[in-house]
Amino acid sequence: MKEFINFNMDFSKKVVINTLEKEWIDSPESQVKRIPLERSGEESGHVTSVVEYKKGAAFKEHSHPLGEEILVLEGVFSDETGDFPAGTYIRNPPGSRHSPFSKDGCKILVKLDQFNENDLERVVINTHDESLWRPGIGGLKVLPLHQYETESCALVKWPKNENFQKHAHYGGEEIFVLSGTFIDEHGSYPKWTWLRSPHLSTHHPRVDEETLIYVKTGHLLK
Ligand SMILES: [Fe+2]
Ligand SMILES: [Fe+2]
Repeated sequence: MKEFINFNMDFSKKVVINTLEKEWIDSPESQVKRIPLERSGEESGHVTSVVEYKKGAAFKEHSHPLGEEILVLEGVFSDETGDFPAGTYIRNPPGSRHSPFSKDGCKILVKLDQFNENDLERVVINTHDESLWRPGIGGLKVLPLHQYETESCALVKWPKNENFQKHAHYGGEEIFVLSGTFIDEHGSYPKWTWLRSPHLSTHHPRVDEETLIYVKTGHLLK
């Protein structure tokens, strides 16, 4: 992982990675593979990645000094607190620790060691729960996941042919496309593409087909 030290850590730069076109990289556990998206150190510190647990894989007990945010993309992710199927959003607060595993295999989006040290709320949300979704601007539907100071995270469902207003990102914007294809004037971003757009960047997004995205904003001020 040496080539991934200090990888994509300049938050003033835009980054787009289609994770379905990248190779899985080995982790310290042979049955756990990953695709790095941004990474400060070798095996600690700020990391965002897509991680695959093969059937029966387990990862050694570890702590999250500045928290861990997980979105389960496929399969069932587990630790000693429970089993979390695809569509589960989890926040393990600063100082938490666990020993994760997956009985039948899973793929997850993980953001490690990026919380404000005072953001101590443990969150587990089943994003398939229709009662949690709210009407948004235009035809959008929004499931708010978490908010702390300037940072907020949500899932956003775009109906077919939705065209959103042009807007600027105070504190930047990070998107992971869960299904469909997200489009703006800079490009087209299919399923499982990760985009990070800097503070005060702008775009005019739209979709042709129904599209589901994870969005985090306001966290790229540093
Ligand atoms: Fe963890
Ligand atoms: Fe945006």
